This record gives sequence, structure tokens and C-alpha cells, in this order.
Amino acid sequence: MGEKFQHILFTIFLCFLSSHAQNLQTYIVQLHPEGLSRSSFTSRFHWHLSLLEKTVSSEDDLSSRFMYSYSSAIEGFAAQLSPLEAEALKKSQQVLAVRPDRRLEIQTTYSYKFLGLSPTREGGAWMKSRFGRGAIIGVLDTGIWPESSSFDDRGMDPIPRKWKGFCQEGRDFSTSNCNRKIIGARYFSKGHRVASLVSSPSTLVEYVSARDSHGHGTHTASTAGGAPVPMANVLGYGAGEARGMAPGAHIAVYKVCWYSGCYSSDILAAIDAAIQDGVDVLSLSLGGFPVPLYEDIIAIGSFRAMQHGISVICAAGNNGPIQNSVANEAPWITTVGASTLDRRFPAVVRLGNWKFLYGESMYPGIGSPAAEKELGIVYFEGGNKGSGFCLRGSLPVVKVKGKLVVCDRGINGRAEKGQIVKEAGGAGMILANTELNLEEDSVDVHVLPATLIGSEESYQLKSYINLTRSPKARIFFGGTVIGKSRAPAVAQFSSRGPSFSDPSILKPDMIAPGVNIIAAWPQNLGPSALPEDPRRVNFTVMSGTSMACPHVSGLAALIHSAHQKWTPAAIKSALITTADITDHQGKPIMDGDKPASLFSIGGGHVNPERAIDPGLVYDIQPNEHLIHLCFLGYSRSDIFSITHKNVSCHEILHKNKGFSLNYPSFSVIFRPGAIRKMFKRRVTNVGSANSIYSLEVTAPEGVSMRVKPRRLIFKQPNQTLSYKVWFISKKRMNMESTRFSQGYLTWVNHRSISSTVRSPIAVTWDTRK
Ligand SMILES: *[C@@H]1O[C@H](CO)[C@@H](O)[C@H](O)[C@H]1NC(C)=O
Ligand SMILES: *[C@@H]1O[C@H](CO)[C@@H](O)[C@H](O)[C@H]1NC(C)=O
Ligand SMILES: *[C@@H]1O[C@H](CO)[C@@H](O)[C@H](O)[C@H]1NC(C)=O
Ligand SMILES: *[C@@H]1O[C@H](CO)[C@@H](O)[C@H](O)[C@H]1NC(C)=O
Repeated sequence: MGEKFQHILFTIFLCFLSSHAQNLQTYIVQLHPEGLSRSSFTSRFHWHLSLLEKTVSSEDDLSSRFMYSYSSAIEGFAAQLSPLEAEALKKSQQVLAVRPDRRLEIQTTYSYKFLGLSPTREGGAWMKSRFGRGAIIGVLDTGIWPESSSFDDRGMDPIPRKWKGFCQEGRDFSTSNCNRKIIGARYFSKGHRVASLVSSPSTLVEYVSARDSHGHGTHTASTAGGAPVPMANVLGYGAGEARGMAPGAHIAVYKVCWYSGCYSSDILAAIDAAIQDGVDVLSLSLGGFPVPLYEDIIAIGSFRAMQHGISVICAAGNNGPIQNSVANEAPWITTVGASTLDRRFPAVVRLGNWKFLYGESMYPGIGSPAAEKELGIVYFEGGNKGSGFCLRGSLPVVKVKGKLVVCDRGINGRAEKGQIVKEAGGAGMILANTELNLEEDSVDVHVLPATLIGSEESYQLKSYINLTRSPKARIFFGGTVIGKSRAPAVAQFSSRGPSFSDPSILKPDMIAPGVNIIAAWPQNLGPSALPEDPRRVNFTVMSGTSMACPHVSGLAALIHSAHQKWTPAAIKSALITTADITDHQGKPIMDGDKPASLFSIGGGHVNPERAIDPGLVYDIQPNEHLIHLCFLGYSRSDIFSITHKNVSCHEILHKNKGFSLNYPSFSVIFRPGAIRKMFKRRVTNVGSANSIYSLEVTAPEGVSMRVKPRRLIFKQPNQTLSYKVWFISKKRMNMESTRFSQGYLTWVNHRSISSTVRSPIAVTWDTRK
């Protein structure tokens, strides 16, 4: 949470500064989609410019105010405006909405970790999809390090003929940095530059090009579509072959995230470009806190992308375990939470009293006596300069020298704390989780011997320090251990549902590996991502829903390659209905010490081997989303700005009584007086002719269910059949009773082991009036 706290501070700081700098800030102006044809302008650009011209006082140089012209993701433009000018523009007939630029973030925890490799998925799915050949994954992130072996194009197919994108030159990036793996690379920085002009004249080195100076984009792109690289490792840890999820897929890079964050004006420009360029999948490991869909530029841009048949895959956010924190939750987006792998990097603390505290770390000094020596411990609890958190300049050098320093998690980055302890003369560090982090154990490649312990262990450590005259401890590094622990489990930080803006859709949709993921890394950055870190690596470890998202982007590319005609909704359905709800021991997926709720795992943990051949899919046509938005109670103008369709919800609601979006999961909400809910669903046979499915139901506690029919007999491939399901609440609703319950509705084809089509059911009793 500390890491988040810092984000908030930073955001407030930016707002404060920008309000002082001549009052100009970036606004995204959305126009009527038919405005151009109705106007007398021959080019979109001139039309957009003319609208700006009418608004801005004449002394100003228009071209410096104008930022982007959008045509595919929305019709409109981005410009620097004063609040008064923005108000004036809103009044124009041609203007649908004027939205201030919004700062979003990449979805990784702030310290950068080393990791083992991405899990390899051998077998049928890769064969059937030809490793994702022909598919194009667009990655919106911090750019790419093109020289990484993960982006080698040996054995790659030629660039698909439909591709219209290009390789944009810039600082240390030329067209020769693109190849048959990286087929496009562009950067979008105008929104970022406007915002950072007012915040700080940046002294940070940043490539004004698609080259990655941060590492995050290289990591995510290689997770989605990286080529196989033998003998990858992070300073000896997690050694093995690194592979992206779709090693045969092409990658298109859209750099939208810079040191100051990722601005919605830049993101929208990238989505706009990606639609025109011809990507098949868009991977967005970025986001913010949930906002209504009509305020959400990612939701709006991805609606248009979805209409073009592009699967948009987004990180759910790192604001867990807080309820309602899931972001990027539009029903046309695939929203991915994070889970753990069964790989551990034990680094156990032995206290002076011979009590052992379990911790994890990737510090590479295994076996070196300096790294594994008993040392005195110091902890500056409640220090007034933030010394408990080991903030820069807070540690008293005299007391720290040669000691193991305890640092609480929060506020500054984990790896940065290690650097600060090292600079103060400390010999080692124990990072202590607080109650906010519980036992979550994202590892780092620290610059000094260090380990991370859970909150339970932290309590024991601090009690020992309190009660001991000269406390001591020693860290034992245990290398890489695979298969000993239960996995997957939900990552503590993974954002949770129910969805804030649309509780009628279960979000997140699924979970995928997002803790301690090893993937490619810029060759001029240390594995901790700290500027002071002189070590050089080709791979490092990171954690976050940012890492989970590109796993699913790669899998979506595989499914797209295997089934070229499938819609984004069908691809998402395949991923949700085939996901695993048990861990590798066959027991329920855990979230901390409790079985995970559907609001943390959605359909469950992705299972590529099954998703490639799901048997049945729940498909959705783009227009069905209109009806759904009417059911959400959105206004005509809000719906118009998302969908560009002018609808009368009054009529639609009248014509579509009992409508529900054909989503592959169910979110049932009972309110006082409404204890019976009916849902209609359609399933399309994507398996063989003459497939017979029978029903299996696990009714949620407190609910009885009725389904009609109970058998689905498909004569043809591609045949669609419907069913209805009724949910009847058996509970008396009062403020004290449990508010949630969950179950499953599953169609099983007994003749084919792989065809089990499972829909999760989340039930909420909403006692609010
Ligand atoms: C350690 O002692 C301090 C001050 O006496 C107290 O506030 C704190 O709660 C103690 N911590 C533990 C873990 O016992
Ligand atoms: C990183 O990869 C390059 C080849 O791309 C290789 O020459 C170099 O030795 C590798 N570095 C490490 C630390 O493995
Ligand atoms: C939508 O249709 C209504 C009624 O037909 C009309 O009054 C309104 O101007 C239209 N709105 C837009 C944005 O086209
Ligand atoms: C399946 O049916 C839909 C409409 O019923 C049609 O558009 C589509 O082309 C069909 N797909 C195949 C593979 O036959």
C-alpha cells in the first residue's frame, strides 16, 4: 500500500504544479463521428484544427497547442487548453465530450525483482496454433529493447500482408531495429511532455523513441510473444529456457508510458494507430482506479478496437486485496488478475534465538561468507524521518554500519530501500511486510544481501528485537526451489471485484502468472532497475498484474491463430470457461489462508491446452453491448460517446425485456424485493458435429437454480443453442447476513474429456435501498 500511497502523492503533486503553469493542460476532445462528412473540410486534420482555432485566442500558436488527431479509436483530438477554453468547446454542437487527460500507471509493484522464467507451455496448444504464427500482438507499454535475444526473428514467418504499421525512427532506434519479430515500433509522448513540462525539467535519461529505458515494456512484450531463449537466468536464479506465450507471434510496440506515467491522450493515440496498423491483440499492462466506462479512455478506445475484431487484454490492477478495486473492467475487455507460480527463492532468517523466519530473495551471493554471516540487527521503528521505511537520508550511518537493517515495506521501492541501506553502510537488509502485504512474497534482485519476510514473521522479528539486548540474525539463501509449494494462488496485490462501474459483469475475468515472472530486460539496466545498480543481465524478475496480462495476450494470439474467424468475445469465452479452479494439488485455489472467491479469480487460472479447444463458446456481437449499456442506466450521450450509436434506451429496454449480455460468467445481484433472476445464454458449438452436452450445477449457497433445457444436442459444427437459467434466493435478506456466495454452471460433453464448459456464478445480496 505504501507504494500506492506514493502514487497518490505524486499525482496530487502534478495537479498542483500544473494548475500554476499558465493553466494549460491536455484535454481529449471527442467529436461527432459524422462531423467530418457534415463539415466542409476535406481533411480530418483541418477540421479538428478549425475547432481549436475557434476556441483559442489568436495570439497563440495553434500548432503548439494541438497534440493528436484521432480517427479510429474515437473521432476527435487532443490539445492543450485552459479550463475556460475546455468549457467553451463543450458547448459546440460538434463536440460530444471534453475530458481532461488522465495519468495511468504500469501495473507492477515498485521494486523490480529478479525472476525465474516464464512458465513453458508445451504440447497441443502450441501445435494447433503453430505457436501463434501470423498473429500480431500490439503492446502498449514503456517501449522495447530490440537487441534482446527474445526478439530475435530467426524462424519467424514473413510480416503479414495486412500489416500497415511501421518502424518509427528516434533516439537510438532505427528502422533496422525492427525485424520479423518486432514488426512495428512507435512512440507517443505528447501528453506526457505537456504534463512533465510543468512537473520537473526531467534530468532522467529517457529515449525519445520506442527504445525502453524502464524495462517494463521489454519484460511484458517478451512474456507475450518472446522467442525461445535457451539458458536464460537471472544471475543464476531460475535457469531454464525462456519463452513467450506465443513465440511465433509478431510484436508491434507502442510506447505510451514514460517516467511520469502513461497519459490517456497518448494511450488513445496508440490505440488509434494500432487499429489502423492491423494488430490482432492489444496488451495493456497499465491502468488506474476504476471510473465509469464513459469516462474511461481505455474502455472507449477498446470498444472500437473490439468492433475491428481486436482482442483487448488488460491488467486488473495492483490495488488488492481491497474490494471493488478491479480496473479496466469494460465487458468488451479481458481483465486479468495475478497468481503465483510454484517456484520459490527461499532466503530464510535465523534469529539469534535460533527461531527461523521464512523469507524469499534473489540475492545472488549464495555461498559467499559475507552474505551469510550472523550480524547485529537494527530497526528504527517510527523514526521521524521515515527510517522505519528506510527512506533516503533517514538512516543514521553510525548505527547502521555493518548491521542487518530492518525496513518496513511501503512508500519507496523495495530494491531502492536496499540501495539506501547499502549507501548508509549497512551489511544486509530484512524487508518486513506489514498487515497490508500479509505473506505476499514478490522477490527482488537486491544490491546487497537481503530477504523479504511476511507480516506474521515481521511481527515475530520485531518482538524479538524488542525483547533482546543485542539482537542478531543470519540470512540463509536457498536458491531456486520448484514444485514444493501450493500454486497457483491469488497474489495479494491483485485487484478484486466486484466491478465498481458494472457489477453485473464478473471481474476480473481470470488470473494468470504475475508473481516473480522472469522475462527479457534492457541490456543497459541493472536487474533491480536502480540507476546505481552496475550489474547487467538479459533477464530479470518482476511481479504485478502487468506480468499476468501479457501471458493472456499471448494466449489470445494462440487462439486467434488457431481459429482466425473467432471474435474477441469468443476468444475470451474460451479462456474463461476452460480455466482451472483448483491448484496443482487439486485443491481450491487459495487467496491467503482462505479459498479464493470468484471476485479474485473470475473463471480461474488460465489453461491454454484446454482454451485452444473449448467445445462451446459464448459469443457476443458488438451491438449487444448497446443493450447492456442501456441496462446499466447510462444516458444516451454517454452511450453515444462509447459506441457512436445514437440509441433510445427507452425503446431498447422495452424490446429486450429480460436481456442479459451473453457473457461466459454470471453475476447475480439480488436486491430487496427481487429474489428471482432469469438469464438467457447462447452457446455455439466450436467442436465436432453431433456433440451432446449435459448439465452439471453447483448451486451457490442460499440459492436454488433451475436450467432449461438440461441437455444440449448439437447436430452441426457452428450451431448455436440457447438455454435459460433461473436463480432464486432462499435467504432472508438483512444487513447481517452473508453478502456473497458462489457456484458453477457447467456443460459437459462426456464423449470428449476436454470439453467441460464451466461458467462461474457470483451472487451478491445488495441490501441497500
Ligand atoms: C516494540 O516496542 C514498541 C515500544 O515499546 C511498541 O510500540 C511495539 O508495539 C513493540 N513491537 C512489538 C512487535 O512487540
Ligand atoms: C546477454 O545476451 C548476449 C547476446 O544477446 C550475450 O552476448 C551476453 O553474454 C548475455 N549476457 C548475460 C549476462 O548473460
Ligand atoms: C440522436 O437522436 C435524437 C433523436 O432522434 C436526436 O435528437 C439527437 O440529436 C441525436 N444525437 C446525436 C448525438 O446524434
Ligand atoms: C458460423 O456461423 C456464423 C453465423 O451463423 C457465420 O457468420 C460464420 O461464418 C460461421 N462460421 C463457420 C466457421 O462456419
